[in-house]
Amino acid sequence: MSTNQLLKPVTLEKKENLNIGGCDMVELVKQYGTPLYVLDEQTIRSVCREYKKSFSKYDNVKMMYASKALCNSAVAKIISSEGFGFDTVSAGEIYTVYKSGIDMSTVLFNGNNKTAEEIELAIKYGVGRFSIDNYHEVELISEISKKYGRTVQALLRITPGIECHTHKYIQTGQLDSKFGFDLSQIDSIIEHILSVDKTINIRGLHAHIGSQIFEPQCYADEVEVLVKEISRIDNKYNIKLDEINIGGGLGVKYVDTDAPPSIELIADYIIDSLNKNISKYGIDKPTLYLEPGRSIISTAGVTLYTVGSSKQVPGMTKYVSVDGGMADNPRPSMYEAEYYAEVANKYDKKETEKVTVAGKFCESGDILIKDIELPILEAGDIICVYNTGAYNYSMASNYNRALKPAMVLVNNSQSDIIIYRETLDDLVSHDNIPNRLV
Ligand code: LLP
Repeated sequence: MSTNQLLKPVTLEKKENLNIGGCDMVELVKQYGTPLYVLDEQTIRSVCREYKKSFSKYDNVKMMYASKALCNSAVAKIISSEGFGFDTVSAGEIYTVYKSGIDMSTVLFNGNNKTAEEIELAIKYGVGRFSIDNYHEVELISEISKKYGRTVQALLRITPGIECHTHKYIQTGQLDSKFGFDLSQIDSIIEHILSVDKTINIRGLHAHIGSQIFEPQCYADEVEVLVKEISRIDNKYNIKLDEINIGGGLGVKYVDTDAPPSIELIADYIIDSLNKNISKYGIDKPTLYLEPGRSIISTAGVTLYTVGSSKQVPGMTKYVSVDGGMADNPRPSMYEAEYYAEVANKYDKKETEKVTVAGKFCESGDILIKDIELPILEAGDIICVYNTGAYNYSMASNYNRALKPAMVLVNNSQSDIIIYRETLDDLVSHDNIPNRLV
Protein backbone atom coordinates (compact mmCIF):
# COMPACT_ATOMS: atom_id res chain seq x y z
CA MET A 1 0.00 0.00 0.00
CA SER A 2 1.16 3.51 -0.78
CA THR A 3 2.42 5.48 2.25
CA ASN A 4 -0.16 8.26 1.74
CA GLN A 5 -2.91 5.61 1.95
CA LEU A 6 -1.89 4.56 5.46
CA LEU A 7 -3.62 5.90 8.54
CA LYS A 8 -0.56 5.37 10.75
CA PRO A 9 3.26 5.56 10.52
CA VAL A 10 4.91 2.60 8.78
CA THR A 11 6.78 1.54 11.92
CA LEU A 12 3.72 1.42 14.20
CA GLU A 13 3.75 -1.68 16.43
CA LYS A 14 1.33 -2.76 19.09
CA LYS A 15 3.39 -4.04 22.02
CA GLU A 16 2.62 -3.33 25.67
CA ASN A 17 1.80 0.19 24.45
CA LEU A 18 1.77 1.76 20.99
CA ASN A 19 5.30 1.87 19.58
CA ILE A 20 6.54 4.04 16.72
CA GLY A 21 10.09 3.95 15.33
CA GLY A 22 10.82 1.25 17.90
CA CYS A 23 9.97 3.66 20.75
CA ASP A 24 7.26 3.14 23.35
CA MET A 25 4.90 6.13 23.25
CA VAL A 26 4.24 6.00 27.00
CA GLU A 27 7.99 6.07 27.71
CA LEU A 28 8.38 9.05 25.35
CA VAL A 29 5.71 10.90 27.31
CA LYS A 30 7.58 10.20 30.57
CA GLN A 31 10.73 11.61 29.03
CA TYR A 32 9.42 14.58 27.05
CA GLY A 33 5.94 15.40 28.42
CA THR A 34 2.77 16.22 26.48
CA PRO A 35 1.49 17.52 24.18
CA LEU A 36 4.24 15.94 22.11
CA TYR A 37 4.66 15.77 18.36
CA VAL A 38 6.38 12.53 17.34
CA LEU A 39 7.84 12.16 13.86
CA ASP A 40 8.81 8.79 12.36
CA GLU A 41 11.91 9.07 10.17
CA GLN A 42 11.28 5.84 8.30
CA THR A 43 7.85 6.98 7.16
CA ILE A 44 9.30 10.20 5.76
CA ARG A 45 12.05 8.31 3.95
CA SER A 46 9.73 5.68 2.57
CA VAL A 47 7.32 8.22 1.12
CA CYS A 48 10.18 10.20 -0.46
CA ARG A 49 11.49 7.00 -2.05
CA GLU A 50 8.05 6.09 -3.25
CA TYR A 51 7.70 9.46 -4.98
CA LYS A 52 11.07 9.07 -6.66
CA LYS A 53 10.36 5.52 -7.80
CA SER A 54 6.86 6.31 -9.08
CA PHE A 55 8.07 9.29 -11.09
CA SER A 56 11.20 7.58 -12.43
CA LYS A 57 9.14 6.57 -15.49
CA TYR A 58 9.69 10.16 -16.67
CA ASP A 59 13.38 10.87 -17.03
CA ASN A 60 13.41 14.51 -16.08
CA VAL A 61 11.81 15.00 -12.67
CA LYS A 62 12.76 17.16 -9.71
CA MET A 63 11.07 16.85 -6.35
CA MET A 64 10.67 19.79 -4.02
CA TYR A 65 9.20 19.40 -0.57
CA ALA A 66 6.60 22.10 0.22
CA SER A 67 8.14 23.16 3.50
CA LYS A 68 5.01 25.01 4.63
CA ALA A 69 3.68 21.60 5.72
CA LEU A 70 6.40 21.32 8.38
CA CYS A 71 9.64 23.23 8.33
CA ASN A 72 12.48 22.69 10.76
CA SER A 73 16.17 21.95 10.48
CA ALA A 74 16.07 18.18 11.11
CA VAL A 75 13.23 17.67 8.65
CA ALA A 76 15.12 19.71 6.04
CA LYS A 77 18.18 17.47 6.54
CA ILE A 78 16.20 14.24 6.17
CA ILE A 79 14.33 15.36 3.10
CA SER A 80 17.34 16.83 1.32
CA SER A 81 19.26 13.61 1.98
CA GLU A 82 16.50 11.89 -0.04
CA GLY A 83 17.34 14.13 -3.01
CA PHE A 84 14.50 16.63 -2.63
CA GLY A 85 14.73 20.39 -3.01
CA PHE A 86 12.42 22.81 -1.19
CA ASP A 87 9.45 24.99 -1.99
CA THR A 88 9.54 27.97 0.38
CA VAL A 89 7.13 30.85 0.91
CA SER A 90 8.75 33.14 3.46
CA ALA A 91 12.00 34.48 4.85
CA GLY A 92 11.51 32.10 7.78
CA GLU A 93 11.36 29.02 5.60
CA ILE A 94 14.26 30.19 3.41
CA TYR A 95 16.38 30.92 6.48
CA THR A 96 15.59 27.56 8.09
CA VAL A 97 16.58 25.69 4.95
CA TYR A 98 19.71 27.82 4.52
CA LYS A 99 20.82 27.30 8.12
CA SER A 100 20.35 23.55 7.67
CA GLY A 101 23.10 23.63 5.05
CA ILE A 102 20.85 22.83 2.09
CA ASP A 103 22.07 23.53 -1.46
CA MET A 104 20.08 26.72 -2.10
CA SER A 105 19.99 26.15 -5.84
CA THR A 106 17.41 23.43 -5.11
CA VAL A 107 15.08 25.96 -3.45
CA LEU A 108 12.08 27.72 -4.99
CA PHE A 109 10.60 30.92 -3.55
CA ASN A 110 6.90 31.21 -4.04
CA GLY A 111 4.17 33.50 -2.71
CA ASN A 112 1.66 36.19 -3.62
CA ASN A 113 3.21 39.03 -1.63
CA LYS A 114 6.93 38.54 -1.28
CA THR A 115 8.36 41.52 0.54
CA ALA A 116 11.46 43.40 -0.54
CA GLU A 117 13.32 42.03 2.50
CA GLU A 118 12.34 38.47 1.64
CA ILE A 119 13.34 38.90 -2.00
CA GLU A 120 16.69 40.32 -0.94
CA LEU A 121 17.30 37.40 1.42
CA ALA A 122 16.40 34.91 -1.31
CA ILE A 123 18.73 36.56 -3.81
CA LYS A 124 21.55 36.84 -1.28
CA TYR A 125 21.29 33.17 -0.35
CA GLY A 126 21.16 32.09 -4.00
CA VAL A 127 17.64 30.60 -4.09
CA GLY A 128 17.42 28.63 -7.36
CA ARG A 129 13.98 29.62 -8.64
CA PHE A 130 11.47 32.38 -8.07
CA SER A 131 7.85 31.78 -8.88
CA ILE A 132 6.68 35.13 -10.25
CA ASP A 133 3.22 35.87 -8.96
CA ASN A 134 2.43 39.53 -9.78
CA TYR A 135 3.65 42.78 -11.33
CA HIS A 136 4.63 44.34 -8.04
CA GLU A 137 7.28 41.71 -7.36
CA VAL A 138 8.70 41.97 -10.88
CA GLU A 139 9.69 45.55 -10.01
CA LEU A 140 11.13 44.49 -6.66
CA ILE A 141 13.05 41.53 -8.05
CA SER A 142 14.49 43.52 -10.90
CA GLU A 143 15.64 46.32 -8.60
CA ILE A 144 17.18 43.99 -6.00
CA SER A 145 18.80 41.61 -8.45
CA LYS A 146 20.51 44.56 -10.15
CA LYS A 147 21.97 45.55 -6.79
CA TYR A 148 23.47 42.06 -6.44
CA GLY A 149 24.40 41.75 -10.13
CA ARG A 150 22.31 38.61 -10.45
CA THR A 151 19.81 37.22 -12.91
CA VAL A 152 16.87 35.53 -11.25
CA GLN A 153 15.72 32.22 -12.72
CA ALA A 154 11.96 32.32 -12.69
CA LEU A 155 8.74 30.45 -13.31
CA LEU A 156 5.45 32.22 -13.98
CA ARG A 157 2.75 31.23 -11.51
CA ILE A 158 -0.50 30.72 -13.34
CA THR A 159 -4.02 29.78 -12.26
CA PRO A 160 -5.01 27.03 -14.66
CA GLY A 161 -8.75 27.29 -13.94
CA ILE A 162 -9.11 23.80 -12.51
CA GLU A 163 -11.43 23.25 -9.57
CA CYS A 164 -10.82 20.17 -7.49
CA HIS A 165 -13.15 18.86 -4.85
CA THR A 166 -11.38 19.88 -1.70
CA HIS A 167 -12.12 22.34 1.10
CA LYS A 168 -12.63 25.78 -0.42
CA TYR A 169 -9.96 27.35 1.78
CA ILE A 170 -7.33 25.03 0.36
CA GLN A 171 -8.35 25.28 -3.31
CA THR A 172 -5.93 27.37 -5.33
CA GLY A 173 -6.19 26.44 -8.99
CA GLN A 174 -9.59 28.04 -9.67
CA LEU A 175 -9.73 31.34 -11.57
CA ASP A 176 -10.90 33.56 -8.73
CA SER A 177 -7.74 33.15 -6.68
CA LYS A 178 -5.26 35.53 -5.07
CA PHE A 179 -2.38 33.51 -6.54
CA GLY A 180 -0.67 34.05 -9.88
CA PHE A 181 -1.83 35.15 -13.30
CA ASP A 182 -4.88 33.85 -15.05
CA LEU A 183 -4.40 32.58 -18.57
CA SER A 184 -5.55 35.84 -20.15
CA GLN A 185 -2.81 37.79 -18.30
CA ILE A 186 0.16 35.64 -19.28
CA ASP A 187 1.08 37.52 -22.44
CA SER A 188 1.12 40.89 -20.79
CA ILE A 189 3.33 39.72 -17.92
CA ILE A 190 5.74 38.07 -20.34
CA GLU A 191 5.89 41.24 -22.41
CA HIS A 192 6.40 43.25 -19.26
CA ILE A 193 9.25 41.04 -18.05
CA LEU A 194 10.89 41.15 -21.48
CA SER A 195 10.64 44.94 -21.49
CA VAL A 196 12.00 45.47 -17.97
CA ASP A 197 15.58 44.27 -18.40
CA LYS A 198 17.54 41.06 -18.25
CA THR A 199 17.33 40.48 -14.51
CA ILE A 200 14.55 37.89 -14.81
CA ASN A 201 14.99 34.80 -16.95
CA ILE A 202 11.71 32.93 -17.45
CA ARG A 203 12.39 29.19 -17.36
CA GLY A 204 8.90 27.76 -17.13
CA LEU A 205 5.41 27.75 -15.71
CA HIS A 206 4.20 26.98 -12.22
CA ALA A 207 0.73 26.11 -10.93
CA HIS A 208 -0.81 24.53 -7.86
CA ILE A 209 -4.39 23.31 -7.98
CA GLY A 210 -5.15 22.78 -4.30
CA SER A 211 -4.49 20.54 -1.38
CA GLN A 212 -5.82 17.20 -0.06
CA ILE A 213 -6.69 16.23 -3.67
CA PHE A 214 -8.11 12.77 -4.36
CA GLU A 215 -8.78 13.10 -8.10
CA PRO A 216 -5.86 12.12 -10.37
CA GLN A 217 -7.62 13.56 -13.40
CA CYS A 218 -7.20 17.09 -11.99
CA TYR A 219 -3.43 16.70 -12.39
CA ALA A 220 -3.74 15.34 -15.92
CA ASP A 221 -5.87 18.37 -16.84
CA GLU A 222 -3.43 20.74 -15.17
CA VAL A 223 -0.52 19.25 -17.12
CA GLU A 224 -2.39 19.77 -20.38
CA VAL A 225 -3.06 23.44 -19.60
CA LEU A 226 0.63 24.01 -18.80
CA VAL A 227 1.97 22.18 -21.85
CA LYS A 228 -0.49 23.95 -24.13
CA GLU A 229 0.62 27.33 -22.75
CA ILE A 230 4.30 26.47 -23.20
CA SER A 231 3.64 25.67 -26.83
CA ARG A 232 1.58 28.83 -27.35
CA ILE A 233 4.27 31.00 -25.73
CA ASP A 234 6.93 29.40 -27.94
CA ASN A 235 4.88 30.06 -31.07
CA LYS A 236 4.10 33.65 -30.15
CA TYR A 237 7.35 34.83 -28.55
CA ASN A 238 9.83 32.22 -29.64
CA ILE A 239 10.67 31.55 -26.00
CA LYS A 240 11.40 27.93 -25.13
CA LEU A 241 10.23 27.23 -21.61
CA ASP A 242 11.64 23.93 -20.42
CA GLU A 243 10.28 23.57 -16.88
CA ILE A 244 6.82 22.88 -15.58
CA ASN A 245 6.05 22.86 -11.90
CA ILE A 246 2.67 21.33 -11.11
CA GLY A 247 2.67 22.14 -7.38
CA GLY A 248 1.66 19.68 -4.68
CA GLY A 249 -1.66 18.65 -3.22
CA LEU A 250 -1.86 14.87 -3.14
CA GLY A 251 -4.24 13.83 -0.37
CA VAL A 252 -3.66 11.55 2.61
CA LYS A 253 -5.86 9.30 4.71
CA TYR A 254 -6.91 11.00 7.95
CA VAL A 255 -9.83 8.69 8.71
CA ASP A 256 -11.00 5.30 7.48
CA THR A 257 -13.41 6.75 4.93
CA ASP A 258 -10.67 8.74 3.13
CA ALA A 259 -9.47 6.96 0.01
CA PRO A 260 -6.61 8.90 -1.57
CA PRO A 261 -5.13 7.51 -4.78
CA SER A 262 -1.66 6.02 -4.48
CA ILE A 263 1.43 8.05 -5.34
CA GLU A 264 2.08 5.64 -8.21
CA LEU A 265 -1.38 6.18 -9.70
CA ILE A 266 -0.99 9.96 -9.51
CA ALA A 267 2.44 9.62 -11.15
CA ASP A 268 0.97 7.52 -13.98
CA TYR A 269 -1.76 10.10 -14.69
CA ILE A 270 0.73 12.96 -14.68
CA ILE A 271 3.34 11.23 -16.82
CA ASP A 272 0.77 9.89 -19.31
CA SER A 273 -0.73 13.33 -19.68
CA LEU A 274 2.70 14.87 -20.05
CA ASN A 275 3.80 12.45 -22.75
CA LYS A 276 0.51 12.69 -24.61
CA ASN A 277 0.42 16.48 -24.55
CA ILE A 278 4.10 16.92 -25.38
CA SER A 279 3.43 15.23 -28.70
CA LYS A 280 -0.02 16.80 -29.15
CA TYR A 281 1.37 20.34 -28.74
CA GLY A 282 4.80 19.62 -30.19
CA ILE A 283 7.11 20.85 -27.41
CA ASP A 284 10.43 19.46 -26.17
CA LYS A 285 10.32 17.36 -23.02
CA PRO A 286 10.31 19.82 -20.10
CA THR A 287 11.71 19.12 -16.64
CA LEU A 288 8.81 18.24 -14.37
CA TYR A 289 8.83 19.70 -10.86
CA LEU A 290 6.55 18.54 -8.04
CA GLU A 291 5.98 20.16 -4.67
CA PRO A 292 4.28 17.70 -2.33
CA GLY A 293 4.03 18.78 1.30
CA ARG A 294 1.26 17.03 3.19
CA SER A 295 1.75 13.63 1.54
CA ILE A 296 5.46 13.66 2.49
CA ILE A 297 5.12 14.45 6.17
CA SER A 298 1.55 13.93 7.39
CA THR A 299 1.54 10.19 8.06
CA ALA A 300 4.95 10.33 9.74
CA GLY A 301 3.56 12.51 12.54
CA VAL A 302 1.41 11.77 15.56
CA THR A 303 0.54 13.94 18.54
CA LEU A 304 0.44 12.56 22.07
CA TYR A 305 -1.84 14.18 24.63
CA THR A 306 -2.59 13.43 28.26
CA VAL A 307 -6.24 13.04 29.23
CA GLY A 308 -7.45 15.37 31.99
CA SER A 309 -11.05 16.18 32.83
CA SER A 310 -14.17 14.52 31.40
CA LYS A 311 -17.77 15.67 31.25
CA GLN A 312 -20.86 13.67 30.39
CA VAL A 313 -23.68 15.93 29.21
CA PRO A 314 -26.75 13.97 30.37
CA GLY A 315 -28.21 12.08 27.43
CA MET A 316 -25.77 13.75 25.06
CA THR A 317 -22.04 14.02 24.41
CA LYS A 318 -19.23 12.76 26.62
CA TYR A 319 -16.34 15.22 26.41
CA VAL A 320 -12.85 14.05 27.26
CA SER A 321 -10.40 16.93 27.48
CA VAL A 322 -6.71 16.73 26.66
CA ASP A 323 -3.79 19.05 27.42
CA GLY A 324 -3.55 20.50 23.91
CA GLY A 325 -5.99 21.35 21.13
CA MET A 326 -6.47 24.14 18.64
CA ALA A 327 -3.17 25.85 19.46
CA ASP A 328 -1.16 22.79 18.37
CA ASN A 329 -3.68 21.56 15.77
CA PRO A 330 -5.97 24.27 14.39
CA ARG A 331 -7.16 22.13 11.45
CA PRO A 332 -10.39 20.74 12.98
CA SER A 333 -11.60 24.21 13.97
CA MET A 334 -10.42 25.86 10.73
CA TYR A 335 -11.40 23.27 8.14
CA GLU A 336 -13.63 20.83 10.01
CA ALA A 337 -10.76 18.41 9.47
CA GLU A 338 -11.21 14.90 10.86
CA TYR A 339 -8.61 12.84 12.72
CA TYR A 340 -8.30 9.32 14.03
CA ALA A 341 -6.81 8.40 17.40
CA GLU A 342 -5.98 5.46 19.64
CA VAL A 343 -5.05 5.28 23.29
CA ALA A 344 -1.32 4.61 23.55
CA ASN A 345 -1.50 2.83 26.92
CA LYS A 346 -4.75 0.87 26.34
CA TYR A 347 -5.15 0.45 22.59
CA ASP A 348 -6.23 -3.19 23.07
CA LYS A 349 -8.99 -2.73 25.68
CA LYS A 350 -12.20 -4.25 24.42
CA GLU A 351 -14.66 -2.08 26.31
CA THR A 352 -15.12 1.19 24.45
CA GLU A 353 -17.37 4.25 24.53
CA LYS A 354 -18.15 7.06 22.14
CA VAL A 355 -16.46 10.29 23.21
CA THR A 356 -15.60 13.70 21.82
CA VAL A 357 -11.96 14.63 22.34
CA ALA A 358 -11.87 18.28 23.33
CA GLY A 359 -8.93 20.64 23.52
CA LYS A 360 -8.17 22.84 26.52
CA PHE A 361 -8.51 26.22 24.86
CA CYS A 362 -11.18 28.76 25.72
CA GLU A 363 -13.43 28.22 22.73
CA SER A 364 -16.32 25.81 22.29
CA GLY A 365 -15.04 25.12 18.77
CA ASP A 366 -11.82 23.67 20.18
CA ILE A 367 -12.74 20.05 19.48
CA LEU A 368 -10.05 17.72 18.13
CA ILE A 369 -12.20 14.67 17.31
CA LYS A 370 -15.98 14.46 17.39
CA ASP A 371 -17.63 11.14 18.27
CA ILE A 372 -14.85 8.59 18.27
CA GLU A 373 -15.09 5.12 19.80
CA LEU A 374 -12.21 4.79 22.32
CA PRO A 375 -11.46 2.55 25.32
CA ILE A 376 -12.92 3.90 28.59
CA LEU A 377 -10.65 6.83 29.40
CA GLU A 378 -9.31 8.06 32.70
CA ALA A 379 -7.16 11.04 33.61
CA GLY A 380 -3.54 10.27 32.77
CA ASP A 381 -4.26 8.11 29.71
CA ILE A 382 -2.28 8.98 26.59
CA ILE A 383 -4.19 9.69 23.41
CA CYS A 384 -2.27 9.30 20.16
CA VAL A 385 -3.77 11.36 17.31
CA TYR A 386 -2.56 10.14 13.91
CA ASN A 387 -1.57 12.06 10.80
CA THR A 388 -0.51 15.27 12.47
CA GLY A 389 2.83 15.67 10.67
CA ALA A 390 1.56 18.26 8.19
CA TYR A 391 0.04 21.67 8.94
CA ASN A 392 -0.04 21.10 12.70
CA TYR A 393 3.23 22.43 14.11
CA SER A 394 3.53 24.72 11.10
CA MET A 395 0.16 26.31 11.93
CA ALA A 396 0.50 26.15 15.72
CA SER A 397 -0.09 29.29 17.76
CA ASN A 398 0.38 30.60 21.27
CA TYR A 399 -3.35 31.12 21.74
CA ASN A 400 -4.20 31.42 25.45
CA ARG A 401 -0.43 31.85 25.89
CA ALA A 402 0.01 28.16 25.18
CA LEU A 403 3.57 26.86 24.92
CA LYS A 404 4.36 25.28 21.56
CA PRO A 405 5.01 21.57 22.18
CA ALA A 406 8.27 19.74 21.60
CA MET A 407 8.86 17.54 18.57
CA VAL A 408 10.74 14.27 18.79
CA LEU A 409 12.17 12.27 15.91
CA VAL A 410 12.05 8.49 16.32
CA ASN A 411 14.03 5.89 14.41
CA ASN A 412 15.50 2.46 15.21
CA SER A 413 14.41 2.66 18.88
CA GLN A 414 16.10 6.02 19.32
CA SER A 415 14.36 9.29 20.09
CA ASP A 416 15.83 12.76 19.61
CA ILE A 417 14.40 16.17 20.28
CA ILE A 418 14.18 18.14 17.02
CA ILE A 419 12.21 21.11 18.39
CA TYR A 420 12.40 22.06 22.04
CA ARG A 421 9.24 22.71 24.00
CA GLU A 422 8.68 26.41 24.55
CA THR A 423 9.07 27.62 28.10
CA LEU A 424 7.17 30.26 30.01
CA ASP A 425 10.28 32.42 29.78
CA ASP A 426 10.37 32.00 25.99
CA LEU A 427 6.86 33.31 25.98
CA VAL A 428 7.61 36.52 27.85
CA SER A 429 11.05 36.99 26.29
CA HIS A 430 9.58 39.08 23.46
CA ASP A 431 7.44 41.22 25.76
CA ASN A 432 8.58 44.71 26.64
CA ILE A 433 7.28 46.98 29.38
CA PRO A 434 7.66 50.65 28.39
CA ASN A 435 9.62 52.58 31.00
CA ARG A 436 6.67 54.74 31.98
CA LEU A 437 4.82 51.60 33.13
CA VAL A 438 7.65 50.18 35.20
N1 LLP B 1 2.87 24.19 -3.68
C1 LLP B 1 2.15 25.32 -3.49
C2 LLP B 1 2.33 26.44 -4.39
C3 LLP B 1 1.22 25.38 -2.44
O1 LLP B 1 0.52 26.49 -2.26
C4 LLP B 1 1.06 24.27 -1.58
C5 LLP B 1 0.13 24.31 -0.46
C6 LLP B 1 1.85 23.13 -1.82
C7 LLP B 1 2.74 23.12 -2.88
C8 LLP B 1 1.76 21.90 -0.96
O2 LLP B 1 0.51 21.31 -0.98
P1 LLP B 1 0.29 19.91 -0.22
O3 LLP B 1 1.06 18.86 -0.98
O4 LLP B 1 0.81 20.05 1.15
O5 LLP B 1 -1.17 19.70 -0.27
N2 LLP B 1 -3.19 24.61 5.70
C9 LLP B 1 -3.94 23.75 4.81
C10 LLP B 1 -3.17 23.43 3.58
C11 LLP B 1 -2.77 24.66 2.79
C12 LLP B 1 -1.93 24.32 1.59
C13 LLP B 1 -1.43 25.54 0.94
N3 LLP B 1 -0.57 25.33 -0.18
C14 LLP B 1 -4.34 22.49 5.58
O6 LLP B 1 -4.01 22.37 6.75
O7 LLP B 1 -5.02 21.62 5.03
